[in-house]
Amino acid sequence: MSEEKETVNAQMQRLASLGFMVAGVCHEVSNPLAAIHSMLQILQSKRGVTPETLEKGLASIGSNIARVLAITKRLGDFSRVGSDPPGPVAMDAAVEEAISLLRHSSYGAGLRVEYRGAPGAAVLARPGSLQQVLFNILLNAAQAMQGAGLIEAQARIVDAKTLVLSVRDCGPGIPLENLQRVFEPFFTTKQAGEGTGLGLAISYEIVHELGGAIRAYNHPQGGACFELLLPLCEGAA
Ligand SMILES: Nc1ncnc2c1ncn2[C@@H]1O[C@H](COP(=O)(O)OP(=O)(O)OP(=O)(O)O)[C@@H](O)[C@H]1O
Ligand SMILES: [Mg+2]
Repeated sequence: MSEEKETVNAQMQRLASLGFMVAGVCHEVSNPLAAIHSMLQILQSKRGVTPETLEKGLASIGSNIARVLAITKRLGDFSRVGSDPPGPVAMDAAVEEAISLLRHSSYGAGLRVEYRGAPGAAVLARPGSLQQVLFNILLNAAQAMQGAGLIEAQARIVDAKTLVLSVRDCGPGIPLENLQRVFEPFFTTKQAGEGTGLGLAISYEIVHELGGAIRAYNHPQGGACFELLLPLCEGAA
């Protein structure tokens, strides 16, 4: 296939996967907008609104606006980084960068992260997209452990074409009924305002577009594990 055709196909695939999310996005954005709308109507219709009602109403409007902004920011980041061309990305450097971002986040202080790398291995990826995937997996782990404990990550070359990155945390794991759902757009168990439920859905799209895969399971000794299969970049090691 010519390079141009490949680019067009990849673009069409991205548009199709974004299209797949549109119905969910409409639903998730119109709920908070409807809530803002009815709260405004309540505040406008009442003469002599008490300071408590006003305060509650404004707080509700504020949190609903924050939710819409969180969703549009996630989708905006997804579409922006999607424009980098795929190329060889040094795996160890990408993972170290994501770990360093996590250490500088509000979850960094109580975490230990151990990474066993695959020196010299390069995968085929868009650098910004891969960073989103890695950071979301690590952040989810840190959130599940409430910011304290050990995250173990390991990159292994499993055959001539594939690198597997596994990330295990020491949190409570994922209940069986949720294991199939964690990659669904907007599936979240986090408090309102803490998660959009788009992190893994976007990661799934990014990884599959690259010809890779992502799966979640619980470790027999406890904690959740995420496994990322990525195509090795030939001749880039
Ligand atoms: N390491 C983990 N341990 C336990 N549950 C997890 C883990 N990773 C993901 N999950 C579950 O999968 C859900 C979906 O994760 P995802 O990253 O898609 O969204 P989120 O983290 O809830 O929101 P966002 O990524 O927008 O912050 C989480 O809400 C959580 O229930
Ligand atoms: Mg997440």
